[in-house]
Amino acid sequence: MCGIVGYIGKNGAKDILLDGLSKLEYRGYDSAGISVLNKKITTVKAKGQLKNLVSKCEKVDLNGNVGIGHTRWATHGEPSDINSHPHLSMSGKISVVHNGIIENYEELKSNLIKDGVKFVSETDTEVLPHLIEKNYNGDLLDAVIKTTKALKGSYALGIISEDEPDKIIAVRKDSPLIVGLGNGENFIASDIPAILKHTKEVYLLNDNEFVILKKDSVKLVDFDKNEIKRDVYKVDFDDTAAQKGGFDHFMIKEIYEQPQAIKSTLNARVAKGEKIVLDNIGADDLKDISRVFIVACGTAYHAGLVGKTAIERLSGIPVDVDIASEFRYRNPILDKNTLVMVISQSGETADTLAALRLAKEHGCKTFAITNVVGSSVSREADFVFYTHAGPEIAVASTKAYITQLIALYIFALYMAQDKNYVEKSVLEDVKSELLTLPEKVKEALKTDDAAKKIADDIYKETDIFYLGRGLDYAVAMEGSLKLKEISYIHSEPYAGGELKHGPIALIEKGTVVIALNTNNELKGKMESNIKEVVTRGAYIVGILPEGFTDIGESYDKIIKIPDTIPLLAPVTAVVPLQLLSYYVAIKKGCNVDKPRNLAKSVTVE
Ligand code: F6R
Repeated sequence: MCGIVGYIGKNGAKDILLDGLSKLEYRGYDSAGISVLNKKITTVKAKGQLKNLVSKCEKVDLNGNVGIGHTRWATHGEPSDINSHPHLSMSGKISVVHNGIIENYEELKSNLIKDGVKFVSETDTEVLPHLIEKNYNGDLLDAVIKTTKALKGSYALGIISEDEPDKIIAVRKDSPLIVGLGNGENFIASDIPAILKHTKEVYLLNDNEFVILKKDSVKLVDFDKNEIKRDVYKVDFDDTAAQKGGFDHFMIKEIYEQPQAIKSTLNARVAKGEKIVLDNIGADDLKDISRVFIVACGTAYHAGLVGKTAIERLSGIPVDVDIASEFRYRNPILDKNTLVMVISQSGETADTLAALRLAKEHGCKTFAITNVVGSSVSREADFVFYTHAGPEIAVASTKAYITQLIALYIFALYMAQDKNYVEKSVLEDVKSELLTLPEKVKEALKTDDAAKKIADDIYKETDIFYLGRGLDYAVAMEGSLKLKEISYIHSEPYAGGELKHGPIALIEKGTVVIALNTNNELKGKMESNIKEVVTRGAYIVGILPEGFTDIGESYDKIIKIPDTIPLLAPVTAVVPLQLLSYYVAIKKGCNVDKPRNLAKSVTVE
């Protein structure tokens, strides 16, 4: 979703802003713009890719050491030059970038129109510079504080003014924003990669904190202008982690980073023969939990479906899995013995965050699995499990998903270790096998060639089905999502036994079916389901463990993955599916890292 960058310092703002925006492209956007302040504010905006903005900027004098920039993912008003940010006040003296949605903008807008304000865009954001100008009485901070008091909705804001050229004012509520601390220069940004070239020291902001960003100082204050002290957070990855590092795309780089990412998730948490200890969770903190809700969106939701089986099988605690946007409006039955676990790579997904808040209102204990240190869910949940996968830049989630699975297995073992639902030796076996997964995923990456060849065969298809039973079905859902989001091929996942209740009507000669069959106990049943579609002419690509040798003749193509126990098979099985989606999208010439219409961090409802 929208990305914000702001700079004040000794260097030219333009290049720093454009470079910072390029690091936020992964969030998804459809237009971009910058304002640079040098006595006067000069603003350049362009619909489409950042390169359009860069070439427009070449033709304009944008000298100046203060500026704000924005990549916009349209919500109110179509993508266009006019609707792009920054937005200016009537006098042109105040410029604003905004990430989020102003829910009461219509009311604010009609009042401003009555005051004679002329709007030029269709956006909700444009009310902000006009309101700030109306509230300005010689102090920009005061005007911003007064303005935010009138707002409903979510916002991260960066504001500059010709009347106070020595500062940027920023504030966040329910939308991400960080401050980068430099030497004689300071920054604001929606995410760390935007400023990592310049500094690894940041302030992570909380909601309703205002920032007065000057060249040599950064001050945080609350609504009453009381100063807030904040520890400096030192970023533990560098600029290269957010670069492609020799790979053609971030997605394939991140797929190949999975063995290391899994190691980082396991690190210091799981060791043979030792109890699992989780950061900041006391021995008794979760002992009364009688029910778990896992709540998430998209890929993270798919990880949750695997987590359900792991937690139930190992600990005997019943688990429900919900899509966050449904959970928050369906009046779920929650109590203080319910643990609500949210899973979110970004930690900023609006629906997931709202679900977490709802759970807290009901007195539930809350647990967040997230990849982003200091993200909103990490700060609001009672307990946090960081996946430590490193920055995930490609919009399609891969290493975040696989590390969410690992986090869920660890959590399941943690909940099980003081219960006698399954024998201790079973838990030890799962633990030992979990520790082999970095190597097994490395092995699974050797399916690369096979996936590429199959991609060559199937990339012209318009409909592809994914089939699986049990955990394979959960992985089928993830494989299908991966394919559709980056290759735009229509795809549907089905539980093997469900096909004959309707969807089998869609199977005809040549229909491609990706069939996952990794669990010995379900193998026979799954083979019957595969036969049902083979009989109707389907072309079957099987994902099978090495150990399955008597595989019959139903498969047209087979990809073999390393053997593991069925409970952990999603980790190895998803790898060829990720690779297959990637190569299909490449073959089709799609923009793999930035698929159309999608945003990496969905910070609006
Ligand atoms: C798909 C994908 C999305 C996200 C979803 C939740 O590849 O990335 O489905 O999983 O938008 O995002 P987070 O995990 O940041 O809450």
